[in-house]
Amino acid sequence: MGLLDGKVAIVTGSGGGIGREHALALAAEGASVLVNDLGGARDGSGEGHAMADQVAEEIRAAGGEAAPNYDNVATVEGGQAILQGALDAFGKVDILVNNAGILRDKTFAKMDEALWDAVIAVHLKGTYCVTRPVFLHMKERGEGGSIISTSSTSGLEGNFGQSNYGAAKAGIAGFTRCLALEGQKGGIRVNAIAPVAFTRMTSDLMGAPEMEKTMAPNLISPLIVFLASDLSKDVTKTTFFVGGGKISEMRMTRTEGVTKTDEGGLWTPEEIAARLPEILA
Ligand SMILES: NC(=O)c1ccc[n+]([C@@H]2O[C@H](COP(=O)([O-])OP(=O)(O)OC[C@H]3O[C@@H](n4cnc5c(N)ncnc54)[C@H](O)[C@@H]3O)[C@@H](O)[C@H]2O)c1
Repeated sequence: MGLLDGKVAIVTGSGGGIGREHALALAAEGASVLVNDLGGARDGSGEGHAMADQVAEEIRAAGGEAAPNYDNVATVEGGQAILQGALDAFGKVDILVNNAGILRDKTFAKMDEALWDAVIAVHLKGTYCVTRPVFLHMKERGEGGSIISTSSTSGLEGNFGQSNYGAAKAGIAGFTRCLALEGQKGGIRVNAIAPVAFTRMTSDLMGAPEMEKTMAPNLISPLIVFLASDLSKDVTKTTFFVGGGKISEMRMTRTEGVTKTDEGGLWTPEEIAARLPEILA
């Protein structure tokens, strides 16, 4: 008996890296998995079938159920085709993991429109393009569902040279918090993860060779299995940090603040400056 017997999952960008581990882990718990991957390079250039085919084959060889899919998450047609691929192969979708991603790092001074648009398209618009048809399908089916999207500390805490990627990743966290409220009525849970792992995306940034083991991408996936399963039936609207064996919650907090009551609540800039330590406390 697996935790996800009878469930169907879509994992975008699961032809390699963290997504591949998600697909293997979900399948090992009994889920049928649509292995989506455009099959391009780290910067999003190129495409091919080999990556998705290989992971789907790996799952089948281990006795699981999988089908490959090569559509692009960054277009509305691609998102629709990804849902259709899962429906054609398995008849329904219970779990969506938005994981596909690319990198085009540059300092903001060199961040031209093409670098900005490419990264926003795959991460932020891609999350919209795949989630919308799947969300509508889940609502229509009326059996709930679990949607897990991939944010990043780069957006939630900030990272030098990643204004495009950070904007997209913080957007995904905001998207998650809003959609979670809309999903509640239909039992559709919506959560996000901010992972850290040694993959082709980060190998040159992480450097130290031992990190290949200590920050291995398979360390991320148990959280995905948990969030996909009924073990997390009360968990929604939450963003988790996960990596290297550590799991924690990433919170957007509002400080206690200071309320001015005289003058109808109208602050002067000088008053704000004087009370800034209390406002930020
Ligand atoms: N590795 C980390 O430390 C880290 C940190 C924070 C966030 N993330 C996020 O985790 C996710 C997985 O990253 P990874 O480290 O495994 O990198 P990766 O490059 O190994 O995996 C990303 C996958 O997405 C696929 N992909 C790219 N564009 C696509 C598109 N348009 N349509 C379909 N598939 C597409 C790629 O082919 C690739 O297989 C990404 O969203 C990434 O931003 C990773």
